[in-house]
Amino acid sequence: MEYTVKSGNPEKQRIGCVAIPIYASRKLSASAKVIDKASNGYISNLVRRGEIEGDLGNTLLLHNVENTLCDRVLLIGCGKEKDIDVKTFYKINHHMVKRLQASGATEIASYLTEVPVKRKDISWKIQHSIEAIDETLYTFNQLKTEKKEARRPLRKFIFSVNGRGQLMLGEQAVRQGMAISAGIHLAKDLGNLPANMCTPDYLAKQAAKLDVQHNRIKTSVLEEKDMEKLGMGALLSVSRGSREPGKLITIEYRAGDDKQAPIVFVGKGVTFDSGGISLKPGASMDEMKYDMCGAASVIGAINACAELQLPINIVGIIPTVENMPDGIACRPGDIVTSMSGQTIEILNTDAEGRLILCDALTYAEKFEPDVVIDVATLTGACIVALGAHPAGLLSNHNPLANDLLSAGQTSGDRCWQLPLWDDYQEQLKSNFADIANIGGKGAGTITAACFLSRFTKKYHWAHLDIAGVAWKSGEHKGATGRPVGLLAQYVLDRLQDTK
Ligand code: BES
Ligand code: MN
Ligand code: ZN
Repeated sequence: MEYTVKSGNPEKQRIGCVAIPIYASRKLSASAKVIDKASNGYISNLVRRGEIEGDLGNTLLLHNVENTLCDRVLLIGCGKEKDIDVKTFYKINHHMVKRLQASGATEIASYLTEVPVKRKDISWKIQHSIEAIDETLYTFNQLKTEKKEARRPLRKFIFSVNGRGQLMLGEQAVRQGMAISAGIHLAKDLGNLPANMCTPDYLAKQAAKLDVQHNRIKTSVLEEKDMEKLGMGALLSVSRGSREPGKLITIEYRAGDDKQAPIVFVGKGVTFDSGGISLKPGASMDEMKYDMCGAASVIGAINACAELQLPINIVGIIPTVENMPDGIACRPGDIVTSMSGQTIEILNTDAEGRLILCDALTYAEKFEPDVVIDVATLTGACIVALGAHPAGLLSNHNPLANDLLSAGQTSGDRCWQLPLWDDYQEQLKSNFADIANIGGKGAGTITAACFLSRFTKKYHWAHLDIAGVAWKSGEHKGATGRPVGLLAQYVLDRLQDTK
């Protein structure tokens, strides 16, 4: 879709459709009033007759409205003008797109930019409209032989801004919205691909693609023999049971000062998590193809930052493996030595995410990072604790946690902090090794983070448990692309602070 910005009155737009907000109850927006005046009270008449209430989800499509240059006027109910928050704004965009798809319009001028969203400005509204529109239009049908294409797909979307003074701001917001949205799209595609296609090798090829597309990105891949030399016994113990060789992918985006310490993102890339010898139950096991969504979001976020040519250094580290049962697979009770030198008793082979992450986190030290943020579909317990709304956040550095919480509020891709208290560390005691890979009953998300914290002592670190937010189950099963929005916003905020 092509997105642009423009200033000008709604009745003067020579275009397929003009989208106009209406508030509850039956309240005309500024742009609705302009069209109403031009059309000699046509809109207010319809509203008075009760054709549209202005409730969220209401839409009314009008044709050939007098004294307008557009083919259609689409009235969009936004609910109470004073109650519009981030979520409502998303839904307004969603309903608009659904209605437009059912019409024949392919080019739209939208005046939803005038809708007041609590504590958000015009740039935010444009950026997030793009994310909401693309989200609504997203389909994953490349593996269906018969593709249901839209009858007349939307082609062009113009955001109205108030006067020429806002054009530059608007254009910048469009660039940001499109870059982040493309990153989300990429993360969704990678997540939705099944595990027989999205293998560790496939992820490595995707990373190599970024290298080709952006001249400030360099990617490299460590193979199993390289990881053996580095002593990554924890990571290798997981990939042992699979025919797919494990890999450690590094994506370096360097567009900042040479001496500037990089932000390091680490993404869990388990392309399929059967549980290994501690095999998972059969129901919904297909969803474990999404166990690489941390990796996908790191790829998506770095792609967005590179697309925007942000002047900053970012390193993405992706440990990627498949967790399978096999004759040579690692067993419960096995003890392995991690790259850090600490020994780990593997009491459950299904707690594999932390095993690949711990070696990746040790490897991260070599980049002398400013901060390290790992992203992982790590624990079912996180879904129990927080459901599908925020990601779980745990950190050894409160300022970093606060930056992420704040980026979550701004982007709408939220996280919620859980305590990383020493009290929980006791649960990881092992009779035979330095540490066990599970913490027993209680606080599963926290003990998983406690495990990781043993490997992150040398830098400021935050962990995002995205088990609840990375995909939706049920009828609309699919990857969400989260937390690309959060990570991208975190980077944008960092640049803002240093200005
Ligand atoms: N990938 C899973 C976590 C997960 C489960 C994400 C369900 C989304 C939905 C992870 O590798 C795992 O299996 N974790 C175990 C840890 C346990 C064995 C300590 C879990 O959560 O059950
Ligand atoms: Mn597992
Ligand atoms: Zn897993």
